[in-house]
Amino acid sequence: MDENTTVLLENVSKTYQMGEVEVKALKDVDLTVTKGEFLVALGPSGSGKTTMLNLIGGIDSPTSGKIVVGGHDISTLSEKELTGFRRETVGFIFQFFNLIPTLTAKENVEFALDLVPKEKRGSALEVLEQVGLGERADHFPSQLSGGEQQRVAIARALAKRPPVVLCDEPTGELDYDTGIMILRLMRDISRQEQCNFLMVTHNSAIAKIADKVVHLHSGEISAIDVNEEPEDPENLVW
Ligand SMILES: Nc1ncnc2c1ncn2[C@@H]1O[C@H](COP(=O)(O)OP(=O)(O)OP(=O)(O)O)[C@@H](O)[C@H]1O
Ligand SMILES: [Mg+2]
Repeated sequence: MDENTTVLLENVSKTYQMGEVEVKALKDVDLTVTKGEFLVALGPSGSGKTTMLNLIGGIDSPTSGKIVVGGHDISTLSEKELTGFRRETVGFIFQFFNLIPTLTAKENVEFALDLVPKEKRGSALEVLEQVGLGERADHFPSQLSGGEQQRVAIARALAKRPPVVLCDEPTGELDYDTGIMILRLMRDISRQEQCNFLMVTHNSAIAKIADKVVHLHSGEISAIDVNEEPEDPENLVW
């Protein structure tokens, strides 16, 4: 495996057993993500996008196949190692922000950092400043707009300086302008930090900002496109 490969999926399948019924959520997926690459996976509802992210993030395990993330072959990790992997190697950003309502913005970020070794952490306030929320550090989620809450969620994911950031429809709940702002922020951060963003969405316009676009259909990758010149988020229309 190339040392610049941050995520590798080899022949990955995921089948959910629902009583008598088998649901093949992913079928023989092969994927290579290179350091610094901003990847968007596009596909309709039920095509396997969230399943793929959960497998890469070690939240769920594949039925067969090999997954390597940040040098860790996930299938060989013990339960304890897997917990460490989820804490340190991947950051998650979700559609519904998933902030803890009783904690301030800063405490939400600190809470996620508690679990990460000291030498690997950024400071909560620094990361909030990085996403433009230094002034809002002591606000509770209910006192923040949707876009601001999503920026806190980005800060929370980034504060542990993970090599891979996994985003599931991160702009799905946001209005157009706020969505563009969040995409701009993610693109800037991915360039500054040389970390990988893997974003899944059904919004095909968003694919234009990606370095690489993976098309998922019924659990299979139907095509992978490379954008030589990714579009600026400001130029997207949907
Ligand atoms: N825990 C589960 N148990 C059984 N079936 C599941 C489970 N999770 C997902 N599936 C099925 O696997 C398929 C892929 O689901 P997945 O959530 O990955 O789709 P998706 O592309 O993220 O869709 P959406 O855009 O609606 O979020 C679907 O048919 C879904 O019903
Ligand atoms: Mg999904």
